[in-house]
Amino acid sequence: MPDQSSLQLPSPYTLVELESIDSTNAEAKRLAEEGAPDCTIVWAKRQTAGRGRRGREWVSAPGNLYFSILLRLPYPMEAMTQLGFVAANALADAIQVAAPRGTLVQVKWPNDVLVEGHKIAGILMEGEPDMDSGAFKWLVLGIGVNVSSHPALDDGAYPATSLAAQGATGEGLDVAPLLDTLAKRFLAGLATWRNLGFGPIRRHWLARAKGIGGPVTVRLPNETLEGVFGALDENGALVLHLDGQPNRRITAGDVFIPV
Ligand code: BTN
Repeated sequence: MPDQSSLQLPSPYTLVELESIDSTNAEAKRLAEEGAPDCTIVWAKRQTAGRGRRGREWVSAPGNLYFSILLRLPYPMEAMTQLGFVAANALADAIQVAAPRGTLVQVKWPNDVLVEGHKIAGILMEGEPDMDSGAFKWLVLGIGVNVSSHPALDDGAYPATSLAAQGATGEGLDVAPLLDTLAKRFLAGLATWRNLGFGPIRRHWLARAKGIGGPVTVRLPNETLEGVFGALDENGALVLHLDGQPNRRITAGDVFIPV
């Protein structure tokens, strides 16, 4: 670990800055078990075993942003889904700041960020439920952003991109200011969510959501559904309209929206 961090994050963040780690999510979970405080951020320059959603690999070469936020206040179970939207909004805001002016930045259900229709960032949330209280003891939100490089496809077979590929230059390719903006926007979103609930978070997300009202393919573990992305419900589920069948509420799955 360097002697001095290259980044000063506002209170209540505690920054743990690493050159290399297996996975910032795995490290944040280890720190959670050791009693690390709420809002600990683990930031690594590279990961040797970066993980995506659904057990996929997250390619983690140096030059991109890899970090995880540990949240350890008692959160009800539905908080996991809702905080994913808080994080996605902060992520999209920060990418919009770093990307060249006029770049189209969108969010894709549940927590991806797209730039010009290509996936640039993803979020992996993990939590430790407390069986007695039914709340989470802690949550880890892991965020990866393709800054300097990207795989040809993300592992969910969605076309990928990076800030570099979108023409970002100078500070737009520096991961520290991106993390700084993101961390601050996340704190602001967290305060909104705590004070006003999920409503404003949902509206902010919907304002730049890709594919609402259009065709969508949802891949679930045992079936693939083709329908229309009807709405985002008040808990963050995707409401899928199916031909001649009742609507389905989708709470987890891979979603493909035509680019
Ligand atoms: C996705 O599949 O879209 C989610 C990708 C999440 C990747 C990030 S990188 C930092 C953190 N550590 C990990 O191992 N994964 C997340």
